[in-house]
Parts: sequence; C-alpha cells; structure tokens
Amino acid sequence: MCGIVGYIGNKNSVPILIEGLKRLEYRGYDSAGIGVINGKIGSFVKSKGKVSVLEEKSAADGIEAKIGIGHTRWATHGEPNEINAHPHFNEEKSLFLIHNGIIENYNVLKTGLKKLGYKFLSETDSEVLVHLIDSYMKKDHGLFQAVRLSLNQVEGTYGIAVISTKEPNKIIVAKKGSPLVIGIGDDENFIASDVNALIAHTSQVVYMEDDEIAEINADSFRAKSIHDKDIEKEIHDVEMNLDEITKGGYPHFMLKEIMEQPEAVRNSLRGRLLLDEGIARLGGLQGFADRLANSKRIIITACGTSWHAALVGEYMLEQFAGIPVEVEYASEFRYRNPIINKDDALLFISQSGETADTLAALKEAKRRGALVLGICNAVGSSIARESHAGVYTHAGPEIGVASTKAFTTQLSVLALITLLIARKKHVSIVDGKEIIKEMQQIPEKIEKILQMNDEIEKIAENFVDSTNFLYLGRGYNFPVALEGALKLKEISYIHAEGYPAAEMKHGPIALIDENMPVVFIAPTDSVYDKVISNIEEVKARKGIIIGIASENDNKIDSLVDYSIKIPDTIRMLMPILTVIPLQLLAYHVAVKKGLNVDQPRNLAKSVTVE
Ligand code: F6R
Repeated sequence: MCGIVGYIGNKNSVPILIEGLKRLEYRGYDSAGIGVINGKIGSFVKSKGKVSVLEEKSAADGIEAKIGIGHTRWATHGEPNEINAHPHFNEEKSLFLIHNGIIENYNVLKTGLKKLGYKFLSETDSEVLVHLIDSYMKKDHGLFQAVRLSLNQVEGTYGIAVISTKEPNKIIVAKKGSPLVIGIGDDENFIASDVNALIAHTSQVVYMEDDEIAEINADSFRAKSIHDKDIEKEIHDVEMNLDEITKGGYPHFMLKEIMEQPEAVRNSLRGRLLLDEGIARLGGLQGFADRLANSKRIIITACGTSWHAALVGEYMLEQFAGIPVEVEYASEFRYRNPIINKDDALLFISQSGETADTLAALKEAKRRGALVLGICNAVGSSIARESHAGVYTHAGPEIGVASTKAFTTQLSVLALITLLIARKKHVSIVDGKEIIKEMQQIPEKIEKILQMNDEIEKIAENFVDSTNFLYLGRGYNFPVALEGALKLKEISYIHAEGYPAAEMKHGPIALIDENMPVVFIAPTDSVYDKVISNIEEVKARKGIIIGIASENDNKIDSLVDYSIKIPDTIRMLMPILTVIPLQLLAYHVAVKKGLNVDQPRNLAKSVTVE
C-alpha cells in the first residue's frame, strides 16, 4: 500500500527518494510523487503510474535539494491521477505533506477549512491535513506545533511526513496505525514506512509508535507524544542486507522467494529443535508457553495467505495439542463482539506485521485482557511489538506480492508451537523426536520439489487460456487447496476456487466439464482412497486433472492428466510440501500470460487500510 520515504542531509535528496520509492514499489501503488525544499524554495513532481515515470519527470525538471519527502499512493479516496498523488501542498506552495492511512473525519475538517477560505484541489482525505497545518501556522505556531495540534483534531490513521520552506531544516513525522521508521545516518537522516527503503543507507533505525510525533534534522531528532509529552526513543540495529531485497539474478521476486524456501524454513527451525528432549524451544514464548499450553481454547486470527496458514495450524494444534482451535478472519473478528474467555489464548499471524485488520483485532483482544501472541515475519513490525510475546518466522524480506516463503515458514512455526505444547501435554518424548526428525528433513524435501520447476513449467503451458480452476484437498490439504487457488487468482487473474474435496459433490461438481482444470492434492495419507474416489468423479465428467501425489504412488497416474510427484512426510508437515508445486504452477501460468507477477493489479503487499 502507500509508501513513504524522506531524506535530510548534505546530499541531493532526489535520487535517494527515487531509489527509496523503488524499494517500496512491491507494496503496490498507482501514482507517486516527491516534494523537496531548497533554501526558501519548495517544489514537487507527481506522476500517475510507475516510479520510473516520476524519475524521468524529476530529471527533466532538474530539481535538486537536500531535504525531500516521497510517496507512492494506492488509491483509497479519489482515483489514481496526478492531482490526487502526494505530496499535497498549501496555496503558497510552502508546505508539503505525504500521508499513509485514512483521515476518517476529513469531511468535517474540510467543511471547517472551506469556511476559512481554503480551496481544495484533490479528492483525497489527505489534503485536508496540509490545510489544517497551514491554518495553525497562520496562527503563528511553528511547524512541529502546527502538525501536533492538527493531529489532535484528526480521527483515523496516519503515517505522515511534512516539510515547510518556512522552517527548511527539518522533516516532521507522526504515526498512528501506519508504520513509520526513522533511519539514523552520519549527518543525514532518513524516514520510511518500511525498513526496506532505508537499509541501503543505514542499519540504525528508530520505530515510531502510535500517537508519536518527531522532528528530524540532519544530525538529530526529537520525539514527543501528540499530547505533548517528551519521549526517549531507542535506536535499534536491523539485521538485513541489500541482497535480501534484490532479485539476485531471478526474473521475479516471487520465483526468488519460492526458491528461497529451503533456506527460509531452515532459518525458521534453526536453534529451535531440541532432538534429545523431543521438544521445540521458542525463546519468544518464554514465560508464556505454560499459559498457552493450559489455555482452554486458541483463537488464531489472520488475513489471506496467513489465514490459510492458520487453518493448517488448527489441524496441527487440535491433533497434537488437544486444544480446541478457532480460526478467524481478522476483519470479521474485529467488528463482531467476539467472546473471549480468560482461559483463551489468541494467536495473530501476519507476514508484514502491519495488516490493519489483524492489528486492530489484536488491539481489541488485548483491550479485553486476552493473552495475545504474534507470528510475524517483519522484525519490529507493529503486530510484533503489540503482542505480549511471539515467534518470528525468519523468512527474510518477502517482496513479491503473492506470499510464498511467508506461508511455508508460518507453517513451520505453527508446527514448532504445536510440538512445544504437545510435549507439555500428552505427546511422548519418542513421538516428539519423530516429529523433529521429520521437520529436519523438510528443507531438503522442498529442494527436491523445486527441482521439478521445468516439469511444472511445461504443465503450466497448457493452462494459459483457462478461465477457471478448481483446487481440491482434504484434511491438512484443504487449506492448501485454498492457498493454491488464491495464488493462481491473484497473479494470473484466472478465477479459481479451493474446496474440501468431498464438498465437490455438494455444488462445484456442476461446473466440471472438459474445460475445467481440477488440481487434486492427493498425497498417500489416511484420506487418500477417498480423494481417489473424488478424482474418479471428476474424470467421469471429463475434467482435466492435475494430481499432486506422493512420489511412490503409481496408482494415480492412470487417473490424472498430469501428475506432480513429491516426497512424503508426516501429515502435519505435508502442507509445507504440497503447496510448493501450486506456487510454481501459479507463477508459470502468470508469466506465460505476460502478467506482472510481482505487482499484480489492484493488490498491495501490506494492507494497511481497512
Ligand atoms: C496473498 C497475500 C495476502 C496476505 C494478506 C495478509 O498472497 O499475500 O493474502 O497474506 O494480505 O498479509 P500479512 O500476512 O502481511 O498480514
């Protein structure tokens, strides 16, 4: 979704801003802009479409300045065009503002400002904020104070950055509900909505918290609460290097991230498996593991792919830990009146750690006194910081909009949590050791599946013109069917649905004819024979069948049109393997259709608005 960058120092800010915006492109956007201050002169450039267009325009304008802010916009209020793109500015063009989030009471504020004579150029909610700040500056408040007072009038969410020619040696930033980090350099400082945009310059960051405002100069910064209390901020070291956020020779981030999965899962498991004791060690849950193991119910809340991981978690935890589990869409959970008991534990899963619905659901559960635990990938993200405790997936940055390694590492962490609780309850050391041995082999097994990339690419060629797809699986592989369908629809724009295989007879079977590809996830497990019966039913109606099957299964070949044979493991870990061919299938279909795999239309990597 929208991205923010900013620079203040001795260098020309323009190339730094453009490079930062390029690093945020993966988040999804439809227009971009920069605003800079050179002495007493402020200027801006905006463009619809890609950052490369903005780059050309700013080069043509020849703007240079040592202070600047930049923004990528994902339209919420008002269509994607140059007028609605940020920065927004006041009439004198002395004040520039970029904003992520939504100003919910913008209509009320706008009416008041119009009465004062302010004219609005855009259809955005954000523009109201620049005029509001301007109105306070006209009452002789300094920039910091004007921003602070304005924010006290705002309802909604924001990550903002503001510059003014009247006080040309500072950037003012503030945060509520939208991520914002300050990057600390030598006689230069940076801001961004995402550390990815900073790490080319510095590994020292300061995470802004909700209701905080900061003034950033080239060699210092100070922070306050928007209610005017002084705040001491801690500087953190981020462990990330540039290679992790570049394509590293792959044509797309998505393919790179699919291929990184053996290493990503290894990183998720590293140091967390204690074979001798047959148990998992999760430092992030220290002090909370017993409470979790003794909970009467676990509610797992997430969105999208993370929600699919949660569904697999439900199977794992119920089978091994014997605790009833409910899985909730964060967006539904937060707006119901969810019943949370004192013996419940709530688990929130999020790759980005910034998904607005998941974060809001977490805050609501916390407000009601529940134990809230996070499973996040992005270190230092809002969900990670708001949780009482949690476990990082350590997948490394995921840039491709379609989640791949985030999913398999979430499943790995859910397996670790399951093992930890299960061993605290009734699972024996012998069984714990067996689970660990299987977990240790997962990265190698993923490697083996990835070697089938060319084979899967050839299969994909047959489906470039398909308009519908059905994905079917049972038990642990039902959520994988949902995930396979989501991968295909989001990057190839082919309509796809996932179902529990046996549910097919209750409706979807009506769709099956010789044009309907059906992907069956059919490893040789306890429900194999039942899935084979479902395959027969599709075959009888001439559906085109792709079977994801166990490597030693020779029976399936005569029933399916295409088979992809993968190594076996225990049932609870099978989704980590069965999803890999589905990721590759979706990827190759989308590439063959000539689509933008890493930035599919209308989608954003991190959904930071409702
Ligand atoms: C799908 C995808 C999305 C995310 C969802 C939640 O490929 O990436 O469905 O899974 O937006 O995002 P996080 O996990 O960051 O909360």
